Amino acid sequence: MSKPFVYVTRLLPEDQLAKLKETANVEMWEKEEEPCPRKVLLEKAREADGLLTMLSDKIDQELLEQAENLKVIANLAVGYDNIDVKYAASKKITVCNTPDVLTDTTADLAFALLMASARRIAKAADYIKEGKWKGWGPLQMAGMDIHGKTLGIVGMGKIGTAVAKRGTGFDMKILYHNRSRNKAAEEAHGAKHASFDEVLEQSDFVVCLTPLTEETKEMFTYEAFKKMKRKAIFVNASRGAVVKEDDLKRAIEDGLIAGAGLDVFASEPIQPDHPLLGLRQVTALPHIGSSSEETRLKMMELCSRNIAAVLKGKQPETPVT
Ligand code: GLV
Ligand code: GLV
Repeated sequence: MSKPFVYVTRLLPEDQLAKLKETANVEMWEKEEEPCPRKVLLEKAREADGLLTMLSDKIDQELLEQAENLKVIANLAVGYDNIDVKYAASKKITVCNTPDVLTDTTADLAFALLMASARRIAKAADYIKEGKWKGWGPLQMAGMDIHGKTLGIVGMGKIGTAVAKRGTGFDMKILYHNRSRNKAAEEAHGAKHASFDEVLEQSDFVVCLTPLTEETKEMFTYEAFKKMKRKAIFVNASRGAVVKEDDLKRAIEDGLIAGAGLDVFASEPIQPDHPLLGLRQVTALPHIGSSSEETRLKMMELCSRNIAAVLKGKQPETPVT
């Protein structure tokens, strides 16, 4: 019997796919940073038994409809809002993601973005490289303190909890909003459960780590930003679409909040003329939350193992529930 066929939508290192290759014939899109065009993706999906996808690939009804052999999709991300999971389930296709392996790496980045925003790190680094540093100044590049402040986390899953842990090292008071209480985070990090409004009203840093769902889509509106402290900073390391970006821009322009650190955007990639990039109060990153070399390699290996497991009729390690 011929081996099953697996299509990988980006160029990944061979080593991370070695195990998968024992089970399947693996083909990859030839580029690392450029997405596989929709046309190619549809063509490959038509033949594939397994797909290893990126968060930038839209795995919708149209694609799933044509994918008659498809048994498993492994998404190289913890978030899977790019996949129509319900429809996949109706076609008995298993969808897997990469939780756990990226938790601490993503929390590191979220906290780094918080710190960079508060202490104007990117701006200060540019300042010196641009030859603007003429001497030490009493209020030069003066930012805002992090230690001892209130950290409000919206979306208290594993990554949110890991961010709370980091906050405690800075003597921060931790508030969180989540659909359900996270008792473990309350006990381990002294986090206090609060309503969305309370988190907005009381926090000096509001960090968003919630998955994108129908409920969380555009939950950060002008009205929400208006409830925040005028000196507060908003950080988003989840999905851009949880924010109404026009509203965020207006909120910063109107002085409702002090600034924002953004790792994600409603439609990625964004270009230099994106309205939010025009604001000096915005620190922007190109969606690199889980991007440490160690973690990205682990994510690839987990995807490979998940696909191989399903193709061999076994239970994958991390199917989405
Ligand atoms: C990254 O955004 C992920 O969902 O893993
Ligand atoms: C700053 O460098 C200081 O010594 O206060």
